[in-house]
Amino acid sequence: MSDAARAIAEYWDAAAAAFDDEPDHGLRQEHTRAAWARLLESWMPAGPADVLDVGCGTGSLSLLLAASGHRVTGVDLAPRMVEQAKAKLTAAGFAGRFLVGDAAVPPTGQERYDVLLSRHLLWTLPDPEAALRAWIARLRPGGRLVLVEGRWREAGQNGVPYVTGADSLPWHGGITAEDLAAAVRPLVSGLHIEPLSGDPELWGGPVTDERYALIART
Ligand SMILES: C[S@@+](CC[C@H](N)C(=O)[O-])C[C@H]1O[C@@H](n2cnc3c(N)ncnc32)[C@H](O)[C@@H]1O
Repeated sequence: MSDAARAIAEYWDAAAAAFDDEPDHGLRQEHTRAAWARLLESWMPAGPADVLDVGCGTGSLSLLLAASGHRVTGVDLAPRMVEQAKAKLTAAGFAGRFLVGDAAVPPTGQERYDVLLSRHLLWTLPDPEAALRAWIARLRPGGRLVLVEGRWREAGQNGVPYVTGADSLPWHGGITAEDLAAAVRPLVSGLHIEPLSGDPELWGGPVTDERYALIART
């Protein structure tokens, strides 16, 4: 593991305990949870799907998918995030598998998925374009890539990296929908963007930066 990757893993491990305090992380409020559940379901294929949630964090989206009957595998670099995700699904009485590992090379062998989901991860990957290619290779024919991303003003303020070395991350501070679409389009048969900034239910209040989902089909 590089020094930057170790610093990133340590940062998120330390953040795990309080991560769910943010409304859009913990989804503790019923209306926030319901808003995400509706969106996720609109992005899923009909019937129970095999979903790989990369950079799953504390498993809040994994839980919603499991509650809707999907079979979820979550991968995260930070062991404490994975512990929390496991505990969250167990406490809610749902099955899910959570693994510690690098989302860029998910430790899931030859398994193939109907959906690969990633929320708010690409901005902190050392080589996000390689990760996109690796994720698409994990999908079954006709599978879907669901990327919930944004370009966060706050992250660009003062040019201060969130961990040492983070300023060299290609998409530090997030990526616009236009730029992400340009990166994904050559790899897939079609994609569309759904703007998400205008729905305060999703974030626990109004937001002014760019947030969106990119949904692609292989
Ligand atoms: C902003 S959080 C998002 C968590 C979750 N997807 C969500 O939306 O609630 C970013 C997550 O990505 C994880 N992460 C960062 N780099 C990673 C990598 N290379 N591989 C796997 N997970 C990574 C962090 O540990 C953290 O849990």
